[in-house]
Amino acid sequence: MSQSYHVITYGCQMNVHDSEVLAGLLENMGYRRAGEPEQADLILLNTCCVRETAEERILGRLGELQRLKRENPDLILVVAGCLGQEAGSVERILRRAAQVDIVMGTHNLHRLPDLVREVLTGRNGNGAGTLVEIWDEPAGEQWRQGLPIMRERGVRAWVTIMYGCDNYCAYCIVPYVRGRERSREPADIVAEVDDLAKRGYREVVLLGQNVNSYGLDLEPGPGPGRRFASLLRELDKTQGLARIRYTTSHPRNFGDDIIEAVADCGKVCENFHLPVQSGSSRVLGLMNRHYTREDYLALVEGIRRRVPGAAFSTDVIVGFPGETDKDFEDTLELVREVRFDSAFTFAYSPRVGTPAARAPDQVAPEVKQDRLRRLIETQNEISLEINRAQIGREVEVLVEGEAEKAPGMAAGRDRVNKLVVLSPPEGTTVTELVGREVVVRVEKATTWSLEGRADSP
Ligand code: SAH
Ligand code: SF4
Ligand code: F3S
Repeated sequence: MSQSYHVITYGCQMNVHDSEVLAGLLENMGYRRAGEPEQADLILLNTCCVRETAEERILGRLGELQRLKRENPDLILVVAGCLGQEAGSVERILRRAAQVDIVMGTHNLHRLPDLVREVLTGRNGNGAGTLVEIWDEPAGEQWRQGLPIMRERGVRAWVTIMYGCDNYCAYCIVPYVRGRERSREPADIVAEVDDLAKRGYREVVLLGQNVNSYGLDLEPGPGPGRRFASLLRELDKTQGLARIRYTTSHPRNFGDDIIEAVADCGKVCENFHLPVQSGSSRVLGLMNRHYTREDYLALVEGIRRRVPGAAFSTDVIVGFPGETDKDFEDTLELVREVRFDSAFTFAYSPRVGTPAARAPDQVAPEVKQDRLRRLIETQNEISLEINRAQIGREVEVLVEGEAEKAPGMAAGRDRVNKLVVLSPPEGTTVTELVGREVVVRVEKATTWSLEGRADSP
């Protein structure tokens, strides 16, 4: 009987995609996917440490998984990803979950098969203990080329275009756990996207912590696609593909060339996720974000002028060390001025090793929570107003499948990435619509989604 695995993923899209790669490596070894952790011979947690809450959740889950391990001592428990890469984390992991078999990081994903084999061999003796292998430097990414990636079947596929981050925002641990920026060769990306389109995927999401600096580390070489704007233009030619998205872009170097490329390329969608983090130029300076409130507003304005129908989303941190009431009011004001379609909002969480964690003027937890609540209220009102204004209008939806909470209805995203639930046209089933773009007349709106009826095709 073949062995089975179960992967549990935390964190950002990059981690989600790494999990697809890790699953591919396990499949290559003959492991097969198990739907539930209880059924698996190997459980892998791909972890995140961007905020303390993420870390706590993961350590809690690890604690729970110890029970399965006690019931089945043959179970292999693996912790991979960003948490392992964080200073001091291995001790924390082992304190909570002494029975973990492998702890590995973000730079040695390809070592998973060897590490698993080592555990299996070790067991023939009295191989208790945890195998810890964390690399300080990335392995290079060539090993990824040509490996099976266990992508989720469906309409959308994730494609890494660059690894790491060089921005060193003062609060952020990502550069420490993901390493320096490394861009993939454009020819490899173009080939991968082309192959995905041939295999029926309709949308690709290009991944990087800061996609607009794509290519800056590449040798000047032959052919196009060696900068982000030019890569978008290349990928826009992909036969059979309907949509191209990317995440995340940084407001710092989101140049006119990128705006022009989005405006020109039919497949590249018109939503702009531009994490602002704060509306106070003073705080932005402390955060090492390299733009001011005015720069940000000018960027949004420039995009609106050039790209009709552009929608904006953002990330905001409240309670960064030294943030005053006035700074926070500036953030609220900016949120009202831009009118984001949606926002991811976070209370600042100190991360050991980052400069902001050492700042003396930390904001009290109750103040952070209060600011977070006010920010969320403000944004939710705006999101609802924007969505309600869609009622009566038509949006173009790429159908992904059946709506989660409404059987018989289909769900998908419109061009600007809003979730749309729709009733199929008379005589059409949801299955027939999957992967197709349909025009939907919006009839209802909530803070989070739109609902409507698809025109007959
Ligand atoms: N590379 C992306 C973001 C990656 S992390 C970018 O720069 O846009 C996703 C979000 O988590 C960040 O945008 C930020 O808003 C939030 N974040 C990062 N570190 C944080 C911390 N220490 N505390 C609270 N939020 C944090
Ligand atoms: Fe973190 Fe800043 Fe890099 Fe984003 S750009 S991953 S927030 S350091
Ligand atoms: Fe988390 Fe690592 Fe992503 S810390 S946000 S999973 S890069």
